[in-house]
Amino acid sequence: MPTSPISIPADKLPRHVAIIMDGNGRWALSRGLPRLAGHKAGTENLRRVIRSTVEFGVKYLTIYAFSTENWGRPMEEVRGLMSILEDVIDRELDELNKEGVQLRHIGRLERLAPKLQEKVLDAIELTKNNDRLVLNVAFNYGGRDEIVHAIQKMIKDGIAAEDVTDDLVSRYLYTAGVPDPDLIIRTSGELRVSNFLIWQAAYSEWYVTPTYWPDFDKEEYRRALEAFARRDRRFGKVSSSELEASNA
Ligand code: IPE
Ligand code: IPE
Ligand code: MG
Repeated sequence: MPTSPISIPADKLPRHVAIIMDGNGRWALSRGLPRLAGHKAGTENLRRVIRSTVEFGVKYLTIYAFSTENWGRPMEEVRGLMSILEDVIDRELDELNKEGVQLRHIGRLERLAPKLQEKVLDAIELTKNNDRLVLNVAFNYGGRDEIVHAIQKMIKDGIAAEDVTDDLVSRYLYTAGVPDPDLIIRTSGELRVSNFLIWQAAYSEWYVTPTYWPDFDKEEYRRALEAFARRDRRFGKVSSSELEASNA
């Protein structure tokens, strides 16, 4: 069995990892810094995590960067988060492109400033043929919004009620064509979904750590992948080892 650089058998490695990058604000607060300093540190960490993802051989990474509810934060923080996205594209796009990362966006672009929308679309266009890692950036993303959007589109397309299937719904979501996340990581210890990939997470494995996002390093990432490799995913059925034992 071929192994990845982290000695997890390839068939035990998640194909798709999704991350709720939480705890930037508390990270900053614990250092007596403004919340935006936490977001900047979080962005630096994201860079490292993307590189580790490529190195580990995971093929899809989805990151939750701004939720549909995050508009409710103080205006200054919202503005800061927007300008961080812009900076990241300006500073990192060439490097990500060279590394073979394909950028995608999930969520609604419409509410962002036109210049920022254009930057996101250009980045998607530039990297569309890369295939080392698909990086889905969830920005102005909400799981409920995604489902509402899918239903609206199905109705507009004149889909008949009896043609609505699991598979069809998946194809109408922002994540169309992307496999469901195998592993969802949430930093900073909160035990909730916060409107992230609520359809796609039906059978995802969860890994929650108290570590704040800016401190979530490669070692801990590796531990999360190792924990995943030990999970027995049953998908509502009986585990294969148990079946074998009962048939013996
Ligand atoms: C996550 O960190 C980043 C975003 C939601 C944009 P938070 O800003 O939620 O940090 P905490 O949860 O307040 O510590
Ligand atoms: C989820 O974190 C959203 C992102 C990480 C972008 P929040 O900090 O917004 O979630 P709640 O408020 O703790 O549920
Ligand atoms: Mg938070």
